[in-house]
Amino acid sequence: MEELNTETKSKKLVIPYQRTCECPENHINCLTPKEWIKSQIGVWQFYYEKRDIRDKKLHPATFPIALARKCIELFTHKGELVLDPFVGSGTTLVAAKDLNRNAVGFDLNERYIALCNERLAQHSVFDESTQIAVNDDARNIKEYLDENTVKLVITSPPYANLLNRKRKNKSRRGEYRKNDQYNKIEQYSQDKRDLGTLELKEYAHEIAQIYEKLLRDKGHCVINVADMWWENERIPIHIAIIEALEKVGFKFRNIIIWDRTNIVNRIGIFGWPSNYITMGTTFEYIIHFIKNDS
Ligand SMILES: C[S@@+](CC[C@H](N)C(=O)[O-])C[C@H]1O[C@@H](n2cnc3c(N)ncnc32)[C@H](O)[C@@H]1O
Repeated sequence: MEELNTETKSKKLVIPYQRTCECPENHINCLTPKEWIKSQIGVWQFYYEKRDIRDKKLHPATFPIALARKCIELFTHKGELVLDPFVGSGTTLVAAKDLNRNAVGFDLNERYIALCNERLAQHSVFDESTQIAVNDDARNIKEYLDENTVKLVITSPPYANLLNRKRKNKSRRGEYRKNDQYNKIEQYSQDKRDLGTLELKEYAHEIAQIYEKLLRDKGHCVINVADMWWENERIPIHIAIIEALEKVGFKFRNIIIWDRTNIVNRIGIFGWPSNYITMGTTFEYIIHFIKNDS
């Protein structure tokens, strides 16, 4: 449950956002050169750990804690403020807590916010930082946070309305096709405010509106997204997002491939011998932007 600032009677959250480390001003993170060098590789792999949510009934689309942790370590210092506008099961908040970063996450779905709070309560290695999960539309973030406080916005957003159909599991092999997800719609909700119900163009526009002014100058933004296939056409969601964020002052900086080949298995043959496509389940994009870095 979010804390209310009782003095002003507003929804503004009371949460620290200043560095607590001793790093020199021009450093973008607290990493040592040895740790930094590992992140220069443009293809990343992650493993899930026990605390990760892998049960699709709890949440259908989580990223690994290790992914959020790597991005938070790269683009923030200890004590700084991380924001996840579409926090889902709360993975970003768990990673922030591990790393002693303050963090706020938003989600439309009350059940997911309850799951975030459960995960945060279970796990308390450090207690020097604060993590808050807010059950609200990401469009209202500005009512909760002051401008120029967020150092990193990281998320895996909903995928326009491309998940709003019954899942056929065509990428899966033989009997694995009819798993728990088969013939189910994996959309988070049919709530009109859910970005996963919008057409791609409208979706990109809404993403831009939400992101505008969220981040302080020279702040970083990381978006984990995959492209999708629809009626045998590739839908380049990552390009729609890059174009949308550039319109509102974000500078596109890096694109990293999240190589998922170590965590997917039992892929069925698809398209052979006449229709070549790359399997979306084997990789995703991690897109990195900087705000007003001139
Ligand atoms: C891909 S999931 C995020 C998963 C998260 N990274 C995790 O590891 O659990 C996207 C989330 O966006 C939420 N969502 C969709 N539209 C929203 C909106 N307008 N405001 C806030 N949350 C929204 C959905 O409920 C869903 O949980």
